[in-house]
Amino acid sequence: MVYTTYAGEFPLQNGRPNVEVVIVSDAKAGGELIAGAMAELLRRKPDALLGVATGSTPLPIYQALAATVDAGGVDVSRARVAQLDEYVGLPAEHPESYRSVLRREVLEPLGLDLDAFMGPDGTAEDVRAACEAYDRALAEAGGVDLQLLGIGTDGHIGFNEPCSSLASRTRIKTLTEQTRVDNARFFEGDIEQVPHHVITQGIGTILEARHLVLLATGEGKADAVAATVEGPVAAVCPASALQLHPHATVVVDEGAASKLKLAEYFRHTYSNKPAWQGI
Ligand code: GLP
Repeated sequence: MVYTTYAGEFPLQNGRPNVEVVIVSDAKAGGELIAGAMAELLRRKPDALLGVATGSTPLPIYQALAATVDAGGVDVSRARVAQLDEYVGLPAEHPESYRSVLRREVLEPLGLDLDAFMGPDGTAEDVRAACEAYDRALAEAGGVDLQLLGIGTDGHIGFNEPCSSLASRTRIKTLTEQTRVDNARFFEGDIEQVPHHVITQGIGTILEARHLVLLATGEGKADAVAATVEGPVAAVCPASALQLHPHATVVVDEGAASKLKLAEYFRHTYSNKPAWQGI
């Protein structure tokens, strides 16, 4: 079988593309599916290191996981949480520092305190040393077991903007204007308040997690999702690096799936997958 992408025609490798794509009805269903996989992981490994992402997209995941915890479905008391990226220069207590956001949206609802949390220091005087220290700390913690990812409209993961090296480590990056515009909504709609610089786990760092799970919802993400899973592996679409990972799952709602040429194939493979396999 041959399929046509932006880059030309390609034979399907081994009958399936590398990244598993799961098309769900809506964001809530996506959140529940992914929270279920996280709960399953925590049952197997109670002190799993969960890599968490910010943005609006992962919120249904955190809500579903907190609901499972409240219902007694899983014990998260030994879980550990690792941050994906951070703004440079925002004090940790600033309400929009990612540390604050994750505290509000992940740690508190799950009943975890800051002892369970690790992240880069966005206020460090020596940012380069802070980045290297965080990369080392992740490895010393045994590596991330499951890394949640959102995706930027330009295909970024974490804050790895287009043309980030696919081998990059945690480092400082400059945001594109588009990302600052996209994120201004968290800063009273005022782009001037959005920092220009960030620390992000590099793409090489992200690829070291044992399972990558990217959630994308809404038509605004459809082009980025199509480039991620059906385009070539290319730094211009950083999320396409997921194709290099042996266990990457991309969960999309109908809107985000709307530009996938292989949508029917993805639906078919997922609906015929044995349930015990999970995602
Ligand atoms: C920010 C974060 C990313 C996130 C992206 C998309 O740039 N650094 O990790 O994936 O926003 O956010 P949203 O899910 O709100 O569209």
